[in-house]
Parts: sequence; C-alpha cells; structure tokens
Amino acid sequence: MTETVVFPQDRTCPYQPAPAYLPLAAERPLAQVALYDGRRVWAITSRDMARRLLTDPRISSDRTNPAWPMMFPVIAATVSDVQQKVMKIVTALVGVDGAVHSARRKMLIPSFTLRRINAQRPMIQEIVDRQLERMLGNGAPADLIPAFAAPVPVTILYRLMGIPDEDHDFFEKVSHQLAAGPNANEAYDELMAYMDKLIARKRRNPGDGVLDDLLAGRGGAADVGEVRGEELISTLVLQVAGGHGTTGTMISLSMFVLLQNPERLAELRADPSLLPTAVDELLRLLSIPDGVSRLATDDIEVEGTTIRKGDGVFFITSLINRDENVYETPDSLAWHRASARDHVSFGFGAHQCLGQNLARVTMEIALGTLIRRLPGLRLAAPAGEIPFNPTAGFQVLTELPVTW
Ligand code: HEM
Repeated sequence: MTETVVFPQDRTCPYQPAPAYLPLAAERPLAQVALYDGRRVWAITSRDMARRLLTDPRISSDRTNPAWPMMFPVIAATVSDVQQKVMKIVTALVGVDGAVHSARRKMLIPSFTLRRINAQRPMIQEIVDRQLERMLGNGAPADLIPAFAAPVPVTILYRLMGIPDEDHDFFEKVSHQLAAGPNANEAYDELMAYMDKLIARKRRNPGDGVLDDLLAGRGGAADVGEVRGEELISTLVLQVAGGHGTTGTMISLSMFVLLQNPERLAELRADPSLLPTAVDELLRLLSIPDGVSRLATDDIEVEGTTIRKGDGVFFITSLINRDENVYETPDSLAWHRASARDHVSFGFGAHQCLGQNLARVTMEIALGTLIRRLPGLRLAAPAGEIPFNPTAGFQVLTELPVTW
C-alpha cells in the first residue's frame, strides 16, 4: 500500500505527471492508493497490465453502478443527482459494457474510419487555413487557444457531424452548459429539442454527416439497450460532439512544448513527413487525460495480487505512457520511436477513442500549418508564467500568448 499517494493529485507542469504520482512508477505494475473520499482503489502503471485489464470483461465502464469510482471530485460534482440527464449521454457509449456497447459503437464506426477521415483532409485544411487567416488578420500577439486551437476542432467536428454551420455557436454554448453548468438538465432539454428539429430537417433533406449516417442506419439498427431510436441517435451525437475539447487541448499544449524544444521543432519544419509520428509522440508524452477509470465486477488475479469485485481501478495514463519497460528514455520527446503508437492516451480495448483518426489528422494539419506558415512563432510570455488548470481531469492550458 502506497499510503502517501492520495488521488487525485495536481500536476505542477501541464505536460509532466503529477510529482506525487512518481513513487507509483517504482511499484509498477500496480499499487493500491487512497481516493479523495477515503476509498481504496488500484492504480495501474504498466502498459502491459493496462492492456490486459482494459480488455478484461470483468472490468466495467458502467458509470451507473453505485460503486463506480469517481476519479475527480470535479466530475463527481457534474454527475450529481440533479443532473441525471447528463448520465444519459455519458451512458450512450463510454458508460456501457458488452453487447449493448458494441452494437452502439458499430453504428458509429463507418463514419470514423481512416478512409472516411482522410477523405475529409481538404475540409480540415480549409478550416485550419481560414482560422489562421483570421488570427493573422487580428495581428500579433494572440492567445493561440481562442484564436486557433479551440475553434479549429469544434468547427471540424461539428461540420463532420452534420450540424449546420449557423448552429455551431448555439450547439457549443449549450453543450458547454451541459458538461459544466449548474443548468445541465435545462441544457439537455434544449439540446434534445434542437436535435428533434434537426433530425426532422435531415429526414426531409439528407446530407452526408455522421448524423445522416446514423439516420440512414449505415452502421446498423438503432434498437439496442434501453434508450432507442431517435433519442439514442441524439445522445450518441451529443456524446461524440463533446470530443473536440481534447483535440484543442492537444494542439495548444503541443505547440507550447514544441516552442520550448526548438531542435524538435526544426526537425518537423525540415521534414514534415515526421508529423504523423510526432503527433503520436506528443500524445504519449503529454498524456492529457490523467487517467481512465473502471470498476471490477468480479475478483481478478493479476501477477499474484487480487483485485476484488467492487474495487475501483484507475489506469494512470501519464505513468503508463512512460513505462520504461516499453520506451527508452521515456521522459524525452523523440520522433523516431519504433513504438510511437503504443501509448494509451486514446485508452485501449472496447472503448478506445472512437475519434482517434479524426484527432490525429486534425492535429497533424493544424500543427503542420502553424509550423509551415509561421516560422517566427514564439511564446509572448515566459513559459513558467503560462497558466494552466491542474484539476480539470485532463490537462489544459488556460491561455497561450504567442507572437510571430
Ligand atoms: C487528442 C484528442 C483525444 C483524446 C486524447 C481522446 C481520449 C479518449 C480516451 C482516453 C478515451 C477512452 C475513455 C475510456 O476508456 O473510458 C476516449 C473515448 C472516446 N472518444 Fe476520444 N479523445 C480525443 C479526441 C476525440 C474526438 C475528436 C472525438 C470525436 C469524434 C472523440 C470521441 C470519443 C468517444 C465517442 C469515445 C468513447 C468510445 C467508446 O466508449 O466506445 N474523442 N477518448
């Protein structure tokens, strides 16, 4: 038992593991730690054990189980009793197990294959170019987050979903209230009413977005689980549409790290074919999700230890991605690793990120365009003074002042 480690702990640098977690690396593959509410839970820190457990059917994603361990007090507060409607969205996909999960996921898969996302490269480049022109037009200095990193993935994802451009601001505002506001129930009702109207419009006049794919049943029937039909389609759309925040965070945090690693940045500028590998290496090293949570639904023996039925299990992404049994010099940024894609920043197993192809291509085009078009891009404030939110559950800079 690592008595000293209490979860969660804040990072002191936005792209390094929380220092208080470091003793856990010495205890790989797993350790028992204390959750903020006093409960004992398991912290998994080895890549191999993470992969094994994340594909074990006794490891559940069911957020409605009363024993579910809330890793972050901030998330526990959001999913409170008065906001149960939010759970409908959380349990549309990421919060369900087994056959119901796989049938629902199958509905979405055709819209997110690498082929479909690669076909969207011209649309993604156009959105990136337009946002960059807007930022340049407003002149230096700029806060790269609202000026570029945040709006680019929102516009791309909503366009891909088939949400009309003129509704993006409304959708973004109300989704934000749904995720973070005290009025989540009202926001849910407002979004569902909007989705009803949008679905009626799409039925009259179909397009080629993810919503249109779902309505056409291209991934299979929508009659799995308790929530069915158009309500299921709407909750799936709302769950998927929430995926842009992580990509925006990766764009801003990656640029922050690259600007502090001029040699690596120069290598990318000299050879843009390194970008796809660089994207995965940045995902590995920055590990923006602090972890992935699960619940054991049966006793599980792992390497002489028993994880008991009802125990919470946390996969500590930032330590798993720096497992020295997998990576040489795990703390450094390197573009030529044989195992660049082996990280768990997109999770692993049945729930592995549905949007990973989109996230990778968006990052590649957004970072590649910034690097190519702005050779003089630099921080407009000392790196140590750039603010970040250490308690959000995933890493996020709150400002990124840059000039060029
Ligand atoms: C760099 C950006 C991203 C990161 C780091 C990321 C990370 C993750 C992680 C760690 C999971 C697994 C959660 C779990 O197992 O409990 C996940 C699942 C998911 N992600 Fe992402 N994500 C990103 C971008 C996106 C985008 C752009 C979308 C939208 C298309 C998206 C949609 C989803 C969905 C729908 C799931 C649930 C999949 C399932 O349960 O089957 N993500 N993501």
